[in-house]
Amino acid sequence: MLNWDDYHTEDSTAAATPPPVTEQAISAAIAAEPSTAVEASTASEAVTSSDQSAIARATEALATMDVAPGLEELEMGAARLNVDDKAMINCRADLNQLVPFKYDWAWQKYLDGCANHWMPQEVNMTADVALWKNPEGLSDDERRIVMRSLGYFSTADSLVANNLILAIYRHITNPECRQYLLRQAFEEAIHTHAYQYCVESLAMDEGEVFNMYRELPSIAKKAAWSLSHTHSLSDPLFKTGTPETDQELLRNLIGFYAVTEGIFFYCGFTQILSMGRRNKMTGVAEQFQYILRDESMHLNFGIDVINQIKLENPHLWTETFQQEIIQMIIEGTQLEIEYARDSMPRGVLGMNAVMMEEYLQFIANRRLSQLGLPEQFPGAKNPFPWMSEIMDLRKEKNFFETRVIEYQTGGALSWD
Ligand SMILES: [Fe+2]
Ligand SMILES: [Fe+2]
Repeated sequence: MLNWDDYHTEDSTAAATPPPVTEQAISAAIAAEPSTAVEASTASEAVTSSDQSAIARATEALATMDVAPGLEELEMGAARLNVDDKAMINCRADLNQLVPFKYDWAWQKYLDGCANHWMPQEVNMTADVALWKNPEGLSDDERRIVMRSLGYFSTADSLVANNLILAIYRHITNPECRQYLLRQAFEEAIHTHAYQYCVESLAMDEGEVFNMYRELPSIAKKAAWSLSHTHSLSDPLFKTGTPETDQELLRNLIGFYAVTEGIFFYCGFTQILSMGRRNKMTGVAEQFQYILRDESMHLNFGIDVINQIKLENPHLWTETFQQEIIQMIIEGTQLEIEYARDSMPRGVLGMNAVMMEEYLQFIANRRLSQLGLPEQFPGAKNPFPWMSEIMDLRKEKNFFETRVIEYQTGGALSWD
């Protein structure tokens, strides 16, 4: 932790006889500044510290600034925010005021997300590197699974992050949910970082991995399906506020939270975690374990948001619309089953495509019932009960013991 006493001690001695600040001292300090990666352009070198015209221009701009639009936006003198005015979508209440909370669950999820913070470099990848380099280390089928998983996920989390920032964020009109969305967006960046870190550690052909979503049909179809639900919302002219556009937002939320993060991630997660359980590629598996824990929280948050929107806008949840959503879930399940068959042409790691198909149907039933819709795959069972245990990683006693690097917290920062 930073200790303010250190500053007071320095202040008390320094304040007694402040050293004169000379022009030479300033020049020396500037010369000692670490150089930036990109040098300033020649044109900007013409601007000197003695150039008073910039200050004059800034003063002039402030003096003549028209504050009316800003004050209007801030609604000066308006009544204070009432918690009942807050709403998930189409809300007119001030979105800059986080409190009072209306949706405590959203704030709690933000806190839980922060409490689970991790970074990819904390995971030891040494055993994975040795195993990957060893020609006898893994079978071809096992190698295919590692490559396909990194191929799908390395770009999938970017699709999710872009959808959050470019499509969802501005239409969710609740500050505590937006706070979670910002946390989730950072977690998606960490996930993309984790996949890049695995690719780099294993010295894979990064062009091959990062282009799989455009070059490999079973991956490309999943990516294209997700992207098709971003298009209309990322249009700057798109606005919620009519039943049609509000339903379009719901389609996006369901397409990303329930299908992309809720179904498309599950074959790859199961395959890699099954590998880790067999003591193979344990570093990659550990990265996936942390990601899966984050993803189950994203999924739960998304389901809560969708159900809250339904609750506040029951007119949107028509029978026709419900049929459409059921179809979306089935489409997602079919695409993931195709991916399972493609990535697992034979039985491997104690699983095969038929078992995965049943698992995905089990997952799809779960997503449907979370959304209040009827299950479409009656009797589907979970052939991988260990997945549920892994997902509930919070109960895992040794999460922090496996970490190899301490965070650079405030106490470790150096001001030198
Ligand atoms: Fe993610
Ligand atoms: Fe996610």
